[in-house]
Amino acid sequence: MEREMKFATKCVHAAERPDPIFGAHTTPIFQTSTFIFENSRQGAARFAGEESGYVYARIPPNTPTNAVLAEKFAALEGGEAGQTFASGMAAITAVLLTTLKMGDHLISTDVVYGCTYSLFSEVLPRLGIDVSFVDTSELENVKKAFKPETKMVFLETPANPTMTICDIKEIADMARAHGVLCVVDNTFATPYFQKPLELGADLSLSSCTKYIGGHADLLGGIAAGNRDFIKSLAPVVGYTGGIMGPHEAWLCIRGLKTLHIRMERHAENAMKVAEFLESRPAIEWVRYPGLQSHPQHELARRQMSGYSGMLSFGIRGGIEAGRRLMDNVRLCSLAVSLGATDTLIQHPASMTHACIPREVREKVGITDGLVRLSVGIEDPEDIIADLEQALEKV
Ligand SMILES: Cc1ncc(COP(=O)(O)O)c(C=O)c1O
Repeated sequence: MEREMKFATKCVHAAERPDPIFGAHTTPIFQTSTFIFENSRQGAARFAGEESGYVYARIPPNTPTNAVLAEKFAALEGGEAGQTFASGMAAITAVLLTTLKMGDHLISTDVVYGCTYSLFSEVLPRLGIDVSFVDTSELENVKKAFKPETKMVFLETPANPTMTICDIKEIADMARAHGVLCVVDNTFATPYFQKPLELGADLSLSSCTKYIGGHADLLGGIAAGNRDFIKSLAPVVGYTGGIMGPHEAWLCIRGLKTLHIRMERHAENAMKVAEFLESRPAIEWVRYPGLQSHPQHELARRQMSGYSGMLSFGIRGGIEAGRRLMDNVRLCSLAVSLGATDTLIQHPASMTHACIPREVREKVGITDGLVRLSVGIEDPEDIIADLEQALEKV
């Protein structure tokens, strides 16, 4: 049997093949909307799905550049196949529209990215799909949430922005016992630190806009799972058209080649920043899965091979103090999104999660005083010095 490549080698080599026409070393950007058929029989066979191959860039497998990215990502997640999308939200939407119908029920982690919450709470009920938001960090809550109509469990772990962790293996086992799909948003951890499919999930999806692209210069989404599940997404992807362009796919392929190196540095820096913040009297609390003080630190240790670059904290003096901190950083950028090479700071209650009603936010811990940090790969001393000078002005 052929020896399986290690993760770092997969980042660099998986799915890469020299271009057969000119021998180009890197995957070309196939910037085309359509593909020429050899004859009318081939065109008809491809449309009928009787023959694999490229048809039109909206229809999976989209373009050869997208296909290389999908295959590389699937190799990293430990899945059989992958599918690229226009954004993380396009990925989630395609998965929902493929798997759920009127009358079905979805169980979701209660703390999820703001637009995911809005999609689940505003759009799905209009389609006759019932959603239960559950604190999935308590297995008992998940157990109680299943109904005969439940068709999917959607987990976000670590959750944006509270960094709450849930037990993917236990919940995937529960889902399987109920004959229900388990889908994990793996955006915060990336396959470098967490492999939902190996823990039993049916699908692992990510916003490529974050660590996968890694340089804050694109929008994209991606999912990996078994071949049949991925294939089942193709009609909705084709009909709704939320597809990734070939240039973005090429940027993601390039980004993935350094994923392992970037993630190591993000995590190393985040740990140092988390420890620094925890030591400051002005800081009330810090949530980073790598800290002993994180409520699910033991679970994070078991389930993740590292803790990634995201953390949140509360500052004494509440939101006013938080605003002064955000307005006084110089090296860190005040911006939403995450997973960039530089450190980003933002205020979820008024930015990424502002679309969630206040009482819901407060209940799940997205308080007005919570500040979120996406720790970059700069020298950690510079990040800490910037936060220190900004804290002095609070
Ligand atoms: C955890 C998580 N999932 C999904 C998304 C949506 O990704 P995109 O912005 O690429 O649509 C985000 C965006 O911030 C996110 O943080």
